[in-house]
Amino acid sequence: MAVWDKNLLWSFMFLLAGAVGVTVIYPFTSTCAVRGSTVTLPCTFTPLKSFSDGQREVPLKIVRVRWCKNHEICQGSTPSVYDSNSANINSRYQYLGDMKTNCTLQIRDVQQGDNATFRFRMEADHPQGHFTNKTGVTVTVVDSTKMRIIRSSDDKKFSRGETVTLLCASVCTFHQLEVTWLKDGHALSENGSSLRLSPQTAEDSGNYTCALKNMKTLSEPYSLQAEAGAGGNLPLIAGVLFVVLLAVIALVLFIIKRKLRAAEGQRAAGGETELKVSY
Ligand SMILES: *[C@@H]1O[C@H](CO)[C@@H](O)[C@H](O)[C@H]1NC(C)=O
Ligand SMILES: *[C@@H]1O[C@H](CO)[C@@H](O)[C@H](O)[C@H]1NC(C)=O
Ligand SMILES: *[C@@H]1O[C@H](CO)[C@@H](O)[C@H](O)[C@H]1NC(C)=O
Ligand SMILES: *[C@@H]1O[C@H](CO)[C@@H](O)[C@H](O)[C@H]1NC(C)=O
Repeated sequence: MAVWDKNLLWSFMFLLAGAVGVTVIYPFTSTCAVRGSTVTLPCTFTPLKSFSDGQREVPLKIVRVRWCKNHEICQGSTPSVYDSNSANINSRYQYLGDMKTNCTLQIRDVQQGDNATFRFRMEADHPQGHFTNKTGVTVTVVDSTKMRIIRSSDDKKFSRGETVTLLCASVCTFHQLEVTWLKDGHALSENGSSLRLSPQTAEDSGNYTCALKNMKTLSEPYSLQAEAGAGGNLPLIAGVLFVVLLAVIALVLFIIKRKLRAAEGQRAAGGETELKVSY
């Protein structure tokens, strides 16, 4: 292989490495947020380590990270919702990331104006290291009033011992929101978008509601009622069986007692039948 060929190959490989070296990954490119809630936009990034200025490799260092709303590049004087170089930022936007790999952004007290696409940008100590992933994360803001509870089967009743799963739903899913549950107005210890009730007892009957953590808005109540089916009558059946058993025992004892008395009477009358009885 000629020398220039090898050089070309190396430059090509370096170019490839450079292109794949810098990334910004948004695990969710779209998410839903209920107004007033907190939403987290997960994000990870890999900065370019260095670049070639023609003679040598110049190392790069990330000096600025920022997030913009509805801007493709998020460069220069574009207004940012978060900017590591600026002290004058809205406290609703919390940067949970760092300057190395994590670019997670959290939005608190979501407002209608957050119904937008958010993009992360990294800036290095040389423009060669600047990068914005234009994909971004699209946040859809919805009203909390649309929350409701659903169940896989549309049955409001349940049988004893059955596992029931209730889901807290809205126009959007809540994979990033903290959901709490209430039963007859009292908070349950369970968290998460689904509530698993297992095994069922009559005490599980009641009106269930779900809410977003730290929010006053609740879903419509969902009434779950214990079914008075075959399973529900188990104690009654056991009770009846017990009474019947007692009666049978009493009857048997009564018969034995009568037979013994009859035998005693025969013994008193004459010895002949005594042997028969002892058989
Ligand atoms: C941009 O983000 C999308 C979504 O996370 C991802 O699939 C893609 O690979 C990213 N591109 C770069 C160059 O980081
Ligand atoms: C990024 O930081 C946030 C907040 O500290 C954390 O919850 C998340 O797990 C981190 N992500 C990664 C990929 O390390
Ligand atoms: C929210 O943004 C979507 C596009 O992402 C748009 O279709 C919708 O009309 C917006 N809703 C409001 C209330 O601005
Ligand atoms: C559940 O709600 C219904 C109607 O909203 C009411 O009649 C019932 O008493 C409630 N049950 C409990 C246990 O609060």
